[in-house]
Amino acid sequence: MNILLLGSGGREHALAWKMVQSQHCDELFIAPGNAGTAHFGTNLQLSPNDFPAIRQACMDNNIRMLVVGPEEPLVLGIYDFFKKDPSLQHIVVVAPSAAAAQLEGSKAFSKKFMQRHQIPTASYAEFTEQNLEAGKAYIRSHSLPVVLKADGLAAGKGVVIAGSHEEALQVFEDMIVKRQFGEAGSRVVIESFLKGIEVSVFVLTDGEHYQLIGHAKDYKRIGEGDTGPNTGGMGCVSPVPFMDETFMRKVEEKIIRPTVNGLHSEQLDYHGFIFFGLMNMDGEPYVIEYNCRMGDPETEVVMPLLQTDLVALFAAMDNGTLVDTNIVFDERSCATIVAVSGGYPGSYRKGMLISGLTDAGSGDGTIVFHAGTREADDEVVTNGGRVLAVTSYGNTISEAVAASRAALDKISFEGMYFRRDIGYEFGDREA
Ligand code: AMP
Ligand code: GLY
Repeated sequence: MNILLLGSGGREHALAWKMVQSQHCDELFIAPGNAGTAHFGTNLQLSPNDFPAIRQACMDNNIRMLVVGPEEPLVLGIYDFFKKDPSLQHIVVVAPSAAAAQLEGSKAFSKKFMQRHQIPTASYAEFTEQNLEAGKAYIRSHSLPVVLKADGLAAGKGVVIAGSHEEALQVFEDMIVKRQFGEAGSRVVIESFLKGIEVSVFVLTDGEHYQLIGHAKDYKRIGEGDTGPNTGGMGCVSPVPFMDETFMRKVEEKIIRPTVNGLHSEQLDYHGFIFFGLMNMDGEPYVIEYNCRMGDPETEVVMPLLQTDLVALFAAMDNGTLVDTNIVFDERSCATIVAVSGGYPGSYRKGMLISGLTDAGSGDGTIVFHAGTREADDEVVTNGGRVLAVTSYGNTISEAVAASRAALDKISFEGMYFRRDIGYEFGDREA
């Protein structure tokens, strides 16, 4: 069948890499894609949020399956758009309905959902302009640090961990009164800080059953030793040593099953990925956030470790046989390191020539996934903050990380930066 994949990052390059390995994938189209996805299919220059253009692309290219990478089209209701249109209804859509995508699209919705289903998460309260003064009083009496979250999508920037009440009050006003994040911040969730180690867990669900498809630890800070500002993610490792059977059992019993059962009992239509952003606090899992999509760069380690045919899994999700599928994982470890443009996560330049790509990707155990790249006159140039995600396999995490570092040392572009310490806390144990 012909498949259309929406998005343009490293996540989409990894999904494309995985899907073209399936015997069920005839032609792959990616909208808009990047210089890497162009090797696996046809890039279509259209926005993932332009539903009429996507509809036309599906009709023109006999598309039978739509896979959605980023969150915006999910929250905007791409699933419902397809299911309502008689000429698109036959297409398998890997996405939640708009109502279910509120798990990511509204922090207040997701907190209430977790409360209804007794899913462990940080205690919280929500405020709008109507009860601004009550919000300020709540902040003044809150323990520190305190976490403030813009309710809606804010391109990953809507969460602030404030170390003082003054800072929290300022952030609160910026969000609600000054509308720093526009409408997304007209409602603010204030919650307690959870101290522990973060891990991202991924499932594929048909809204009733689910299959675990992997997990990863993401390194979010720009600087080595987890310092400096937050980014979209500077690297990932998988599997994570503390994700043992005992912890995974707790994650499934206390979090994943109640979530999927909750979706089912509330008739929230869901056919896609759920990304559980978890905190491991002294061996107990808590939900920090839900996302309705795969993570980036988590996908760049999760897909290489998943041996099961992904397109077959999507088909099973659609036809009610997901529960009967057998998921097989590679036994090795995997690491990805993200190379970013100078200045990221602040402002950065685009259009820098990237050299060394062929040499870096020539090793057996290394895959160079493109994130922010584009083709320009037979060359590849930078086109975003996160430029490449270099993934390697290894017998240990340290081995995988070392292989990705060595591959990145062969690549260069002006201003290129990457963290050399991805997976640092798991090194000694395995060396
Ligand atoms: P989010 O956009 O919800 O993923 O939040 C971004 C990041 O903020 C998370 O990945 C965590 O590192 C951090 N964070 C969010 N909520 C909390 C919390 N309640 N306690 C500690 N850290 C948090
Ligand atoms: N790496 C975190 C995310 O995709 O949201």
